[in-house]
Amino acid sequence: MQPLPHRKTPLFLPSESFSFSMKATARKGANLRIFVAAVFIFLFGFVLYNEDLKSIAQSRPLSTSSPTQEAIQEPAGLDDPIQEPAKEDETRVEKKEDEPPKDRVDEPKIIDEVTATEGRGEELDRSGVELPPEGCDLFSGEWVLDNGTHPLYKEDDCEFLTRQVTCLRNGRKDSLFQQWRWQPRDCSLPKFDAKLLLKKLRNKRMMFVGDSLNRNQWESMVCLAQSVVPLGKKSLSRTGSLSIFRMEDHNATIEFYWAPFLVESNSDDPSAHSISDRIIAPESINKHAQHWKGVDFLIFNTYIWWMNSGTAKVKRGSLDEGWTVYDEIDRVVVYGRVLRTWASWIEQNVDPTRTMVFLSSMSPNHYKSTYWNNPDGIKCAMETAPIEKASGLVNVGTDMRLFAVALNTTQSMAKVHVNFMNITTLSEYRKDAHTSIYTIRQGKILTREQMADPQTYADCIHWCLPGLPDTWNELVYARIVSRS
Ligand SMILES: *[C@@H]1O[C@H](CO)[C@@H](O)[C@H](O)[C@H]1NC(C)=O
Ligand SMILES: *[C@@H]1O[C@H](CO)[C@@H](O)[C@H](O)[C@H]1NC(C)=O
Ligand SMILES: *[C@@H]1O[C@H](CO)[C@@H](O)[C@H](O)[C@H]1NC(C)=O
Ligand SMILES: *[C@@H]1O[C@H](CO)[C@@H](O)[C@H](O)[C@H]1NC(C)=O
Repeated sequence: MQPLPHRKTPLFLPSESFSFSMKATARKGANLRIFVAAVFIFLFGFVLYNEDLKSIAQSRPLSTSSPTQEAIQEPAGLDDPIQEPAKEDETRVEKKEDEPPKDRVDEPKIIDEVTATEGRGEELDRSGVELPPEGCDLFSGEWVLDNGTHPLYKEDDCEFLTRQVTCLRNGRKDSLFQQWRWQPRDCSLPKFDAKLLLKKLRNKRMMFVGDSLNRNQWESMVCLAQSVVPLGKKSLSRTGSLSIFRMEDHNATIEFYWAPFLVESNSDDPSAHSISDRIIAPESINKHAQHWKGVDFLIFNTYIWWMNSGTAKVKRGSLDEGWTVYDEIDRVVVYGRVLRTWASWIEQNVDPTRTMVFLSSMSPNHYKSTYWNNPDGIKCAMETAPIEKASGLVNVGTDMRLFAVALNTTQSMAKVHVNFMNITTLSEYRKDAHTSIYTIRQGKILTREQMADPQTYADCIHWCLPGLPDTWNELVYARIVSRS
């Protein structure tokens, strides 16, 4: 088979059989980019990600250092995904390294072209793009292995990828995790076309707002878009909480704004935010939200920062009194307050005829391999295939109460329609897609010794790129191109 970026006719893809526009997104030779990538990764990666891994590292020791307290605070029946596995699991560290990776998923299925396309009601819009029928649930479906269409780009094709997410470059040997395509049950996702995306972005701003997972998704979107922008016509800059990817010829930007709780908190410093006592001001949002005004595509998320305790610390007193006095309140309650603050800001400040608003549901962690019946696993490390749908094992400990709150909040918004991106379940299958030990910690690639100790060092929160966040963006893309 030809190298992916130059393919013309992907195999096995059901939607290909009725594809009208198949502009393979041509990507140019990589030599110069590799050089630029090296420079970028050094400058951008070190600055941008240095602190972030600290914050994640911080969040977990927090729960390990006080396991009893954590257990008490945690509502019965709900495991904190960030909590370290229980004591008895520690023997797993002794696991022999030459053991083959545990892979309980048999031959992945490549779905049959004929049966897959039967009875689908895709529509064609004027530009010849197949659009899923309005009302099709894009989030219920299954993962199919499809190396003809995925990955949508290669690590080396995107100079803007940071070292945190380039898992292959960081030593990961298996690459199947890049080749899964999300197949909705009742329709198909439109084939991703970077040129069409750029057309939709012309003279517009797109902004991701949230935490490092949203930044993970932003990096993916930058890579998806940049493939059709010539060198010298694209740039990335970072000022305070805002990172901006600019595409000059299109007068378009894809931006990321750091606000891990959306509302104000003591963790808002874009670089020095590794704070163990995370305190939230649930009703204060303007300091951040002023930067969201007039943006054409707003994509929000907040979850992971809520997960290091069953309660959230809520600031007492006025904002200029500092972050010292707080109340501890059940996180579900505070999450609801925060999202109501967010929703009312959206309703008062967003012009729905101009701006599309998205709220992503929670990105799950995979910290306990017993969730997917792999008692010999070590967190997500060494997982090379998704959880099989047929196994029925999709509970990985996500706090679905927050999901219910988020869904309810968006549904109760009358003035502005929010696209609720139900990515939680489809991501829960993807125990294979995390950066694991193939990532950086405090700005540095893991050492050999650290890599040999996934129990301590595997990151089962963030995702490799290319990888799962590309699918999240394919879903965002589907909504954007479907908009009438
Ligand atoms: C979200 O998607 C999952 C499947 O991925 C589905 O089971 C669930 O019902 C969906 N929830 C909502 C509220 O749409
Ligand atoms: C895609 O998968 C097929 C079947 O497993 C294999 O023969 C082919 O080499 C693969 N192509 C790529 C580009 O990995
Ligand atoms: C460039 O885009 C911005 C919005 O991002 C818009 O306000 C401005 O009018 C655009 N410039 C031109 C020349 O169209
Ligand atoms: C759903 O939202 C409404 C309006 O904001 C609120 O009154 C209700 O309590 C919420 N229900 C749940 C289950 O969160």
